[in-house]
Amino acid sequence: MAETEIETPSRAAQASSPTSIPPTDAAEEVLAAYEGWMERFREMTRRARVRFLNREWRESQVDAAARMDLYPAAVAAAVDTLRAAGVDGADARDRFAALIGGRADAELAETFYNSVMRRVLTIVGVDPATEFTAAGDGLTQADAVQPLHRSFEGGLTGQTVAALFRATELADAFAELEGDAEACARAAREQLGADADRVRGADLLPFLFYRNKAAYMVARLRLEDGEVRPLLVPLVNGPRGVRPDAVLTTPDEVHVVFSFARSYFHADTGRPAAAIAFLHTLMPAKPLNELYTSLGHNKHGKTELYRELVRQLSRGDARFERAEGIRGLVMSVFTLPGYPVVFKVIRDEFGASKNVTRDAVKEKYRLVFRMDRVGRLVDAQEFEELAFPRDRFDPAWLEELRRDAPSAIRDDGRRVVVRHLYTERRLRPLDLYLRESDDEVARAAVVEYGNAIKDLACANIFPGDLLLKNFGVSRHGRVIFYDYDELALLTDVRFRAMPTARYEEDEMAADPWFSVNDGDVFPEEFVPFLVPAGPLREAFMDAHRDLFTVRWWREIQERQAAGEIPDFFPYPQTRRLKLD
Ligand SMILES: Nc1ncnc2c1ncn2[C@@H]1O[C@H](COP(=O)(O)OP(=O)(O)OP(=O)(O)O)[C@@H](O)[C@H]1O
Ligand SMILES: [Mg+2]
Repeated sequence: MAETEIETPSRAAQASSPTSIPPTDAAEEVLAAYEGWMERFREMTRRARVRFLNREWRESQVDAAARMDLYPAAVAAAVDTLRAAGVDGADARDRFAALIGGRADAELAETFYNSVMRRVLTIVGVDPATEFTAAGDGLTQADAVQPLHRSFEGGLTGQTVAALFRATELADAFAELEGDAEACARAAREQLGADADRVRGADLLPFLFYRNKAAYMVARLRLEDGEVRPLLVPLVNGPRGVRPDAVLTTPDEVHVVFSFARSYFHADTGRPAAAIAFLHTLMPAKPLNELYTSLGHNKHGKTELYRELVRQLSRGDARFERAEGIRGLVMSVFTLPGYPVVFKVIRDEFGASKNVTRDAVKEKYRLVFRMDRVGRLVDAQEFEELAFPRDRFDPAWLEELRRDAPSAIRDDGRRVVVRHLYTERRLRPLDLYLRESDDEVARAAVVEYGNAIKDLACANIFPGDLLLKNFGVSRHGRVIFYDYDELALLTDVRFRAMPTARYEEDEMAADPWFSVNDGDVFPEEFVPFLVPAGPLREAFMDAHRDLFTVRWWREIQERQAAGEIPDFFPYPQTRRLKLD
C-alpha cells in the first residue's frame, strides 16, 4: 500500500505519560467499546424486522437515526477513558491487532480503533505507526472462504423462488408464498429472456435488507458457464400480509436500490465483509466504500474511501482541481479527475447573499444525514484532518482553496491538511448536463428535476436553493440534490401567494412592499428562475406546472402534518408485479 508515501507520521500527543495505563488495557478497553457498539448496532438493526411486521414506519425512522448515533457515542466514551490515562500508541495497536486476529469483522474493529485513537493521540493525516492503515485485502475472498449465502439448486421456477422465500426470516408472514413465488419466477424469466433457461441455481443471503417500508431479499442466479445475475425481490407488508412488490434482475437496477442517495439498510449480516463480497458480485462497479456505507457502516466506508483515493493517486499523476460548475458561495469544492468523489470545504466567508453561519451549515449536513434521503439527497461523509500530498494539487487551485478557506487549510510544504471537509459522490451538475445533452435527453432530465423536487417535498424537505446548479445527474440518469446550506423542513416553510399590488407606487418601489420573512416562499415566483425559457421550460411546465402554485405545496404540507409516509420505490413502475 502507498499510504505511507503520502503521509508523514505526526503524533502530537503520542508519548506515554507517567500515569499511563498498561497498553494491554488500552487495547482491551477499545475492544470492549467496539463490542458494546456492535452489539447495540445489531440489536437496533434486528429491530427493523419487528417494525416491518408491525408497520411501524415512523418508529423505524426514529430507529434509523438512533442507530447512527451509537458509533459517535461509543467512540466518545472510549476516548474519555483513554485520554485520561495516556496510551502508548504503537504498542496498543499491535496488541489490538492480536486481540482481533481471528474475527470475521476485523476490518470494522480496526476502523473503530482508528476512530478512537485518532482522537486520543490527536493524529493528523494518517499515522502508520499507531493506526491501522491497510486491511488485508481478504474481502473479495470473504464469502468464498466461508460462504455466508445459502445455495439452492434448480432452474428459474416458482419452486426455486418459493424455496428462497421459505429460507427468509419472514417465511411465516407471506400472504401467498407459492402463488407469489410463481409470479416472481415468471417476471424474472421474462426479464432474462433466453438466459432464463441457463439458470442452474440460486444463492441467497440469509437475512433481509430493511429500509423504509420494504424488506429486500437479495439473491443471485447462477447461470451455466459460471455467470451470475442478481435477483432482488423487495417485500412489502400490505393489507394481506407480506408480498413481493417487484423483481429486479440487472446490476443497474440493483445499483439504484443500493444508491448513495438512499438511507442505509438495516441488515444483520453477522459478517459484513462476507456480505459485502457477495454484494460485490452483483454490483462489480460499485465502490466498496459505498457498499459498506449502504449497510450503515459509514465509518468503515470512510476508511475504504480513503484507501481507494490513495490507490487512485498511485495509479496516475492526475491532480486535484476545482470541481466543474458554478463556484459555490458557501463551499469550495474540488475533485481528482478519474476518481468519482468531490471534496467540499466550508469557506471562511460566504457570498453576500448568504446569511448562514459555519455551524448552521454543518447542522444542515447533519440533518440530511439523519433524514430519509429518498434517492434524492447525496450521501455526505464528514472528514477531519485529512492530509493530501501537496504536489498532487493543481497550483492555481491550491491558491484558490487557500484564499477561500484559509482557516481550514494547513500547508507544510509536503502535505495539505484539510481540517474539515465533506466527501460526496461526484455528479454531473444539472446546469452543465442540460447544456451538453441533446434535446430529448435534456427534456427528460428537466422532468426528472421536477420529480426530484416533488419527491423531496413528499419527504418533508424543501431544498431552499432550487436552482439547477445545485442538482446533479447520476450515471443512471437520476437527478439528485447536493447543496444543503439552505435546506429546510417543508413543514417549517411558509408558502405564500404574491399579494396583488395595492398602489402603483408599491410596484415601482425598490424595496419589496410586502414582508418577506425568513421561511416565506412564493412559488409563483419560481418560473423565471428554475428552467431557462424555451423548449426545456415548456417540457418542465407540461409536467410540473403545479410546482408553481401555492396550493400544491400546502397540500403536501397538510399530508406531512397528517403523518403520511409516502412510498418511494427505488425501481421503475414497470418492474412492479401486478398481483391480485
Ligand atoms: N456532489 C457533487 N458533484 C459534482 N459537483 C458538485 C457536487 N457538489 C458540489 N458540486 C459543485 O460545486 C459547486 C458548489 O457546491 P455547492 O452547491 O454544494 O456549494 P454552495 O456554496 O452551497 O453553493 P451555493 O452558492 O449555490 O449555495 C456546485 O455548484 C457544483 O458545481
Ligand atoms: Mg450551490
